[in-house]
Amino acid sequence: MEDTTAGCRLTMALLVMCLLSLGSGAPLAQVTPVITMEQLLWVSGRTIGQVDTFRIPLITYTPRGHLLAFSEARKYSASDLGAKFIATRRSYDGGYTWGPTAFIVDDGIAPDGLNLGAVVVDDEAKNIFLIYTLCAHYHQCGVSSVMVTNSSDDGVTWSIPKNISLEIGTKMFAPGPGYGIQKKIAPMKGRLIVCGHGSLDEDGIFCILSDDHGSSWKRGGKLEGLPFKQQKRLGDFSPDECQPYELPDGTVVINARNQYFYHCHCRIVAFSTDGCDTLPLESVRFDEGLPDPAVAAGALYKGGITYFVNPANQTQRVNLTLRWSFNSGDSWEQKSFQIWPGPSGYSCLTTLSHHMEDNENIYIIYEKGRKEITESISLVKVNLYGNI
Ligand SMILES: *[C@@H]1O[C@H](CO)[C@@H](O)[C@H](O)[C@H]1NC(C)=O
Ligand SMILES: *[C@@H]1O[C@H](CO)[C@@H](O)[C@H](O)[C@H]1NC(C)=O
Ligand SMILES: *[C@@H]1O[C@H](CO)[C@@H](O)[C@H](O)[C@H]1NC(C)=O
Ligand SMILES: *[C@@H]1O[C@H](CO)[C@@H](O)[C@H](O)[C@H]1NC(C)=O
Repeated sequence: MEDTTAGCRLTMALLVMCLLSLGSGAPLAQVTPVITMEQLLWVSGRTIGQVDTFRIPLITYTPRGHLLAFSEARKYSASDLGAKFIATRRSYDGGYTWGPTAFIVDDGIAPDGLNLGAVVVDDEAKNIFLIYTLCAHYHQCGVSSVMVTNSSDDGVTWSIPKNISLEIGTKMFAPGPGYGIQKKIAPMKGRLIVCGHGSLDEDGIFCILSDDHGSSWKRGGKLEGLPFKQQKRLGDFSPDECQPYELPDGTVVINARNQYFYHCHCRIVAFSTDGCDTLPLESVRFDEGLPDPAVAAGALYKGGITYFVNPANQTQRVNLTLRWSFNSGDSWEQKSFQIWPGPSGYSCLTTLSHHMEDNENIYIIYEKGRKEITESISLVKVNLYGNI
């Protein structure tokens, strides 16, 4: 105990870890976020590769400790439907500078086109998978397909996309939007888990799983909407776009959009204790501490603290806000941190702390605008302990 306490001198980050290691009787760690950098990675309006609108931002760390961002580059309009590229940019210096936009997938002039999607890092095999859907809306196309491309060189080159619908079925599955996880703790350590929503098995949330480093995929747990196989309306139970993360006891938490505001204008949270083989209905709860207008949000567990970001408003996509929890999301701290007061939409979180001595920072990518959320995609670096 003496050694632990003595070691608590150094930095705020260390202090936090020491306090946590002292156990439940210790005072709670301070989180005092500050934005240390913000830049727009993509701006809509036909100035970047003639692309009309960028939406659906994803961000991840890479096996070598770099950052990779992705978005849908909607060629001709802001609509979810229509032809798109997948755009990507890379940063090798903790987000300060970013390489040029590369378009790594092109769906041609498809009437429905592709939709993102989830990125998942296999830390064991040092491989990055990007998973997206073709024909998610069945708009002038008969079959929905889930496609996977991978990069073993930190996102520089990408494989020819592979169609995994033969393995998981051809009903619509829309991963994320966000990141997938690799289980770091038993049960099912090493498993790749990608959760999303769709009409695969008619409705609700589903996860797809790989126990062989992405060579094959199968369907895992599901959380069905109600009424099952029927058109939903306001007030029905329809868990939708979602973000999984793993707790230190090996539980997977799935934080989901509550599409028709069942019970509340707040987030749905589901838990799996078997590596997403099942998502029991009995585990579901509604988190009134996370007001939400029905949107894709970001969640991340890092160093004993759970982080959550969304447009914190019950009806409008405005007010992008970061929250944190010291008890694995059972409750959220009273204090929160506003990232952007104006229009803000989908978001995604990552951290480099798995790979580098970077316990102080998280990265938030989000849809940002002054009048509309579709105006740009912005990347924010947040120092959690107020260190500029
Ligand atoms: C990753 O892509 C390469 C081609 O670049 C392919 O040979 C390999 O099978 C892919 N790996 C997985 C697990 O999909
Ligand atoms: C993907 O595979 C499914 C199942 O075999 C098939 O029906 C679908 O047409 C394929 N999609 C593409 C784009 O090749
Ligand atoms: C923004 O979020 C904060 C924290 O939840 C809340 O107090 C405030 O009312 C929100 N503002 C708007 C405009 O939604
Ligand atoms: C939600 O946002 C709207 C529009 O900005 C604002 O009028 C309203 O007060 C916000 N709600 C809360 C609870 O802050």
